Amino acid sequence: MSIDGEQDLIKLKVIGRIVGETLKTMLQSVKPGMTTAELDAIGRRLLEQAGARSAPESSYNFPGATCISINHHMAHGIPSADVVIRAGDLINIDVSAEKDGYYADTGASMAVPPVNPLFTKLCTSTRRALKSGMRAARAGRPLNHIGRAVSREAAKAGFDVVRNLGSHGVGRSLHEEPKFIPSYFDPKDQRRLHEGMVITIEPFLTTGPPMAFQEKDGWTLSTLQGCYAAQFEHTIVITKNDPIVVTQV
Ligand code: CO
Ligand code: CO
Repeated sequence: MSIDGEQDLIKLKVIGRIVGETLKTMLQSVKPGMTTAELDAIGRRLLEQAGARSAPESSYNFPGATCISINHHMAHGIPSADVVIRAGDLINIDVSAEKDGYYADTGASMAVPPVNPLFTKLCTSTRRALKSGMRAARAGRPLNHIGRAVSREAAKAGFDVVRNLGSHGVGRSLHEEPKFIPSYFDPKDQRRLHEGMVITIEPFLTTGPPMAFQEKDGWTLSTLQGCYAAQFEHTIVITKNDPIVVTQV
């Protein structure tokens, strides 16, 4: 969507804060021995208390309120009473929801102590890549400056960006135009950023091949076994200066 008037921005900020707070509390709640279904239940309760509805569930019939992906699973992991979080795991939590017809989307990766140094580097670099992508996202600039900034940051750290997952427009639905914003530099991409545009930036950095592979459950996206990926995501509003980060809490 494109912000048209103050009401749009106010309502987007409301849902942005709700998903941001939900993600933060879920990250703080992660404990070894807990199942991903228990973690998801915390997220569901917070969304419900705030009067919001899970977007993956209401838009795509995803079997969970939030997506929780562990180790070589990188995205769209299904919360399960059979998946127990263990010491040393790498976890990604992605929270998106709707309130009053407005949608926001946020995500983060973390490692459970004792933390493998590779996971620390992967998470730090991915967070940095997101920041760098957000700094490049300004009204009037080419859209491909986002992918250029993100992939440069990844390369500096010796990681690749996942090429078949992208950032996207958001606001009046979970996924809207522009439907695919690559995390790599596409010199042929002619699109431009304009003031008021609402998008996510969500780089996935990986230690393995730059692709996400679909698991047989029809949802979960994975790296190759033995490889890892991290993702950080914010919903932003494009301005002439730094973007407004509505999911930052
Ligand atoms: Co997301
Ligand atoms: Co997203």
